[in-house]
Amino acid sequence: MKILMVSAEAVPFAKTGGLADAVSALAITFANMGHDVKIVIPRYYKIDRNKLTPLEGPMGIPVGGGEAWTQVFETSMPDCENLKVYFIDHEQSFGRDGVYGTPAETDFHDNPYRFSILCHGAFQLCRKLGWIPDIIHCHDWSASPALVFLKHIYRYQEFENTAGVLTIHNLGYQGQYSKENFASFGIDWGLYYGAGFEHNGGINLLQAGISSADMITTVSPTYANEIQTPEGGFGMDGLLRVRSDVVRGILNGADLRSWNPKTDKRLPKNYDFKTIKDKAVNKEALQKNMGLEVNPDVPVFGIVTRLADQKGIAELFAPTYGCMYNMCNNLKIQVAVLGSGEAWCENEIRTLESKLPNFKAYIGYDENLSHLIEAGSDFFIMPSRYEPCGLNQIYSLLYGTLPIVRRTGGLADTVENYNEATGEGTGFMFDCLTPGAVYDTVGWATYAYYNKKDHIKKMQKAGMSKTFTWDKSAELYLETYKEAIFRGCHK
Ligand code: ADP
Ligand code: GLC
Repeated sequence: MKILMVSAEAVPFAKTGGLADAVSALAITFANMGHDVKIVIPRYYKIDRNKLTPLEGPMGIPVGGGEAWTQVFETSMPDCENLKVYFIDHEQSFGRDGVYGTPAETDFHDNPYRFSILCHGAFQLCRKLGWIPDIIHCHDWSASPALVFLKHIYRYQEFENTAGVLTIHNLGYQGQYSKENFASFGIDWGLYYGAGFEHNGGINLLQAGISSADMITTVSPTYANEIQTPEGGFGMDGLLRVRSDVVRGILNGADLRSWNPKTDKRLPKNYDFKTIKDKAVNKEALQKNMGLEVNPDVPVFGIVTRLADQKGIAELFAPTYGCMYNMCNNLKIQVAVLGSGEAWCENEIRTLESKLPNFKAYIGYDENLSHLIEAGSDFFIMPSRYEPCGLNQIYSLLYGTLPIVRRTGGLADTVENYNEATGEGTGFMFDCLTPGAVYDTVGWATYAYYNKKDHIKKMQKAGMSKTFTWDKSAELYLETYKEAIFRGCHK
């Protein structure tokens, strides 16, 4: 199949979260299966133009206010020569720091215009390449307008046999702006209502995508159900229930090229289940690196996360409310945190660090440290309020680091709760997100660490023998693509 991925992020070029991992890993899997797949993303300021090949001539993109003149660059995905990645370069829109915003302006005021360039640009790129895909696969709110453009404009042109698929990686981010921003798209005002943009008197990009896609997927089966309920629907549950016949939940995989403890080049010492004693070398390196007391006998609890409300940061870190202080004070444990995000939380983490000798944190983004925390910790804490899929608990399972998670979304689909009677399971789970529940579950894991060593080992083995490859998910996406073509193009 010919597949075009439209996304704001793709590793290794631009990443703010798991979306970037998922888009590239899925595309690589398709390319290795022999499909003709391409990715298009913006050329952000941080992506070095000198490492890319410019396509000949400028490319005009019809957006609101007239044509935007851009230049397109091309490169191959590292280690996947036949997967081409295209970058749309528009200085005014992307020649600045930040994918969606900066700490000073967390959501750029001109995002509708910036992503209008990406979304109309995807079609212009196809024309320029003389390559019409069977599937335009759009990821999240920022690529959603492309589904509107396909359904209402380009399908009446040479894209008559192209179907549109939307993947919702996170329903909590919808791209909501005031009404006048509709003009950025350069399309008929009739589509303000007609394509489902209108929301509370403004525009909602994701809602328009949900309304216009031929098929809609999200990144785990449980999350596919949750988004159709008032509790998990972020106001979109009604619309998603209307469209429930085209909604599918397909679990993400992990990119085993970079996340395999046996081959991970970032680790001081590689290991697998047979050589799990070597995990201790990584634990020691982690303790040294973070400035924790080097002690093989104390359990280390790792956290790697965006510091966003979604991740349960209030229940962990909020002053007086969060459980971290009491947890570290009362339990014989160590905690290693890597994260960046909300300023209050970064500050609170620094405060905790100054008060607790067994709590250390690195505020920032650090790929190497994220691998070391996965390998060197005994447990991984991920108490998400909601979690579409989640990658870190999957990495934890593969690294023999038992996840402590709330039973929600992809966490519920990937972790099995510890059974004290049999030692079965792959992690520790709780249901209701409260500071007390997080504390108790960490306490439960600590108890097992000190008193049920055989159970811990059994659970590590169970987690490490799970397969989280993308192959199975890719097959399910292909089925979804076929259904999208059937629904969208055979009318
Ligand atoms: P989300 O996409 O909601 O943030 P996921 O678990 O799907 O959650 O993916 C998060 C990805 O981002 C993982 O690959 C994780 O290792 C990475 N990550 C998050 N925060 C950091 C950080 N501060 N430093 C390095 N990697 C991080
Ligand atoms: C989002 C979700 C996360 C998911 C990732 C990749 O960022 O928050 O749960 O794993 O997308 O699909």
